[in-house]
Amino acid sequence: MSPVKQNLRIPGPTPVPDDVVEAMADPMINHRGPEFLEMIEEITEKLKQVFMTQNDLFVLTSSGTGALEAAIVNTLSVGDKVLAASAGSFGDRFGDCAEAYGADVQRLEYDWGDPIDPQGVRKALQADPSITAVLVTHNETSTGVTHDVESIAQVVKGEFDKLFLVDAVSSLGCIPMPVDGWNCDMVGTASQKGFMIPPGLAFISVSEAAWEAQQTSNMPKFYFDLAAAKGYLERGQTPWTPNVSALFGLRFALRKIFEEGLENLFERHASIAQYTRDAIKDLGLDLYATDESRASDTVTAVKMPAGVNSGQLMDMMRTEENIVLAAGQGKITTDIFRVGHMGYVSQEDIELVIEALKRVLPKLGFRAG
Ligand SMILES: Cc1ncc(COP(=O)(O)O)c(C=O)c1O
Repeated sequence: MSPVKQNLRIPGPTPVPDDVVEAMADPMINHRGPEFLEMIEEITEKLKQVFMTQNDLFVLTSSGTGALEAAIVNTLSVGDKVLAASAGSFGDRFGDCAEAYGADVQRLEYDWGDPIDPQGVRKALQADPSITAVLVTHNETSTGVTHDVESIAQVVKGEFDKLFLVDAVSSLGCIPMPVDGWNCDMVGTASQKGFMIPPGLAFISVSEAAWEAQQTSNMPKFYFDLAAAKGYLERGQTPWTPNVSALFGLRFALRKIFEEGLENLFERHASIAQYTRDAIKDLGLDLYATDESRASDTVTAVKMPAGVNSGQLMDMMRTEENIVLAAGQGKITTDIFRVGHMGYVSQEDIELVIEALKRVLPKLGFRAG
């Protein structure tokens, strides 16, 4: 265990504020008692406000992938044709999950770094009316690109009325993701990104259309059976033993979020992200996002400068500067590095990264061109 608090600039898990850590040390309570009921009601109500939804919403004890798996197994049936639009590692993984449960996954793939084109989704749905659902990642953490879920939703829901399942793991609570305003059926996210608490909880919203699909969905489900979650939540409980300590932290973190105010929080993320992109370009580095207007406000992906070794950069930033950056993922593991700026983050945290890069990159042979 590191005794020194690092400047943890990976795109999740994110740093946890000290007062949230303290809240998580509260004494244990009965998860089937009145204190829990009060807590889960407050949390659910506040999460609905962050999701901007009046849909049902559930807290799961799992990482974000649990929420995405729940979206799939609760709405789809084996053999259903599903369109998985992707331009990165997490978009691919959402499709892989549906495939693992027996969906017939049609891949609509874009170059990594590009945004998903809503027109491509339209064409794919026009070409194959038997598609029942569309999977999309709001913020592609692996490439630092925020996809235009609003426009994609207009196509999927407005024009074709298909089920729309959204991975909002690295956007919700940081970037506006109005679930009802955009008419998204299932939206999943996780605790360790925008919510300033450790990994271990996932949140998912369920629309009326999703509940209808749930009635006939035949994919196997047990731990993530949301019909069970609904029945229990009506009694102020969860079906299985929840991560109570993380929920203490979440209750506290949500109070902090509303103290700051959602609009201020969105604005903080947008301005820190803009600062990051500008500073990165001033260093003579290039963004990985091909369309800067869709570059993410929660994570900036930077092209690795020619001749600089990715592993060495990560190591030197960590050992010499106490800053933890993320490498790329999958096929671009060594092609980029990523700076996370979501949740508990200030501009000063990023200024430290930029100053450190100015010291470290030249030692690795980088000369701004
Ligand atoms: C966009 C996106 N989707 C899914 C996941 C997977 O979430 P988890 O690792 O919490 O299961 C992540 C995690 O980084 C993510 O960023």
